[in-house]
Amino acid sequence: MPKKFFYPLLENPYRKKDLDKAIKVIKTGRLTIGNHTDKFEKKFTEKMKTKYSLMVNSGSSANLLALQCLINPYRKKRLKKGDYVLIPTVCWSTSLWPIVQSGLKPIFVDIDPITLNIDIKDLIKKINSKAKALMLVHVLGNCTNMGELMKILKKKKIILIEDTCESIGSKYKNKYLGTFGEFSSFSFYSSHQISSGEGGMVTCRNQDDYEILKSLRAHGWSRGLKTEKKISKQNKHLDSRFIFFNSGFNLRPTDISASIGLSQFNDMGNFISIRNKNRDIIVKALKKNKLVNNNFHFIEANKNVKPSWFGIPIYIKNRLNRRKFIMKLEKRGVETRPIISGNFIKQPSVKKYKLLKNSKFLNSDVVNDHGFFIGLPTKKINNIFVNQLVKAFEESI
Ligand SMILES: Cc1ncc(COP(=O)(O)O)c(C=O)c1O
Repeated sequence: MPKKFFYPLLENPYRKKDLDKAIKVIKTGRLTIGNHTDKFEKKFTEKMKTKYSLMVNSGSSANLLALQCLINPYRKKRLKKGDYVLIPTVCWSTSLWPIVQSGLKPIFVDIDPITLNIDIKDLIKKINSKAKALMLVHVLGNCTNMGELMKILKKKKIILIEDTCESIGSKYKNKYLGTFGEFSSFSFYSSHQISSGEGGMVTCRNQDDYEILKSLRAHGWSRGLKTEKKISKQNKHLDSRFIFFNSGFNLRPTDISASIGLSQFNDMGNFISIRNKNRDIIVKALKKNKLVNNNFHFIEANKNVKPSWFGIPIYIKNRLNRRKFIMKLEKRGVETRPIISGNFIKQPSVKKYKLLKNSKFLNSDVVNDHGFFIGLPTKKINNIFVNQLVKAFEESI
């Protein structure tokens, strides 16, 4: 009997060589943060051309640390409790919640349905004197017009945090996303472009922020900081090995995940190129089918963007019922999901925390009501596989 067609959102992303690296670490008996994390951070800084990079246990933790650094009492003149942070409505849960958890208030901004990213026109309307920062979310490897955005932010003195959790490896005008802002976050969750199981990276531009991020990552400890000796001299009444000079979390990664992450990071260019080729083949084949082409719109990379796709975002045109179509497609073996989480302000958590009063975000509603995405294979695909996918779409209409 022929095997049932299966087009997953997420394949097993780990190669033997990634797992061998992890096993080697396990066999040393040193499983917590250590040399492998240092090595990954160093390589990441060099390749991505960031100033400082710090590995954490998830992309969510990276967002949390960036915001906690901005409100930290050691970094005066940045954000203070009650300040406002702009954020697009098509975002992930933990793009938003670290803002609230840090005592800051979100101002929601609609998105541009063509790019799925923040709508610059709406952003301009929403900027007011209380808006001090922007949590920018780069959606699925695509981004907004970064040139125009950076000019606006500079003029309005707005701090940029780039949530690059879905977009590692994408470039705008040959510059990696995640290198425009004062802080950036990256995620190595298993469905993303590269994976360490769970894991993430937070980056920043100056040493003072880096030191704060480092201490917040590990209990607020002074251990391992450039200023460790100085702090110890100022606190002679304490055991110099156990000085907690800041508030803190424990968001450290393990060396197991760092070794897998580094192994994948070393081949990131290769992964991106295979996935981008597969995307072109798949989208071309789907568009070639008249019925499919008439019922769907495929989202393309924005101008000046060299994307790093990990899924294929698609809009269902009006004449098709989204729920019924998705159900049929899933039955035919094609896994689907919303674009990030659709219009996030529709989530019950936003209502519970009363973050918003009756505003409309019409473009985000389009993403919510018409958008979905399918996975993007990480290995070379053949015609039989692509034809099966086209057939699954055609039969689900
Ligand atoms: C835009 C965005 N930000 C943050 C995250 C959180 O990353 P993690 O799953 O590593 O915590 C995700 C998760 O997929 C995401 O899509």
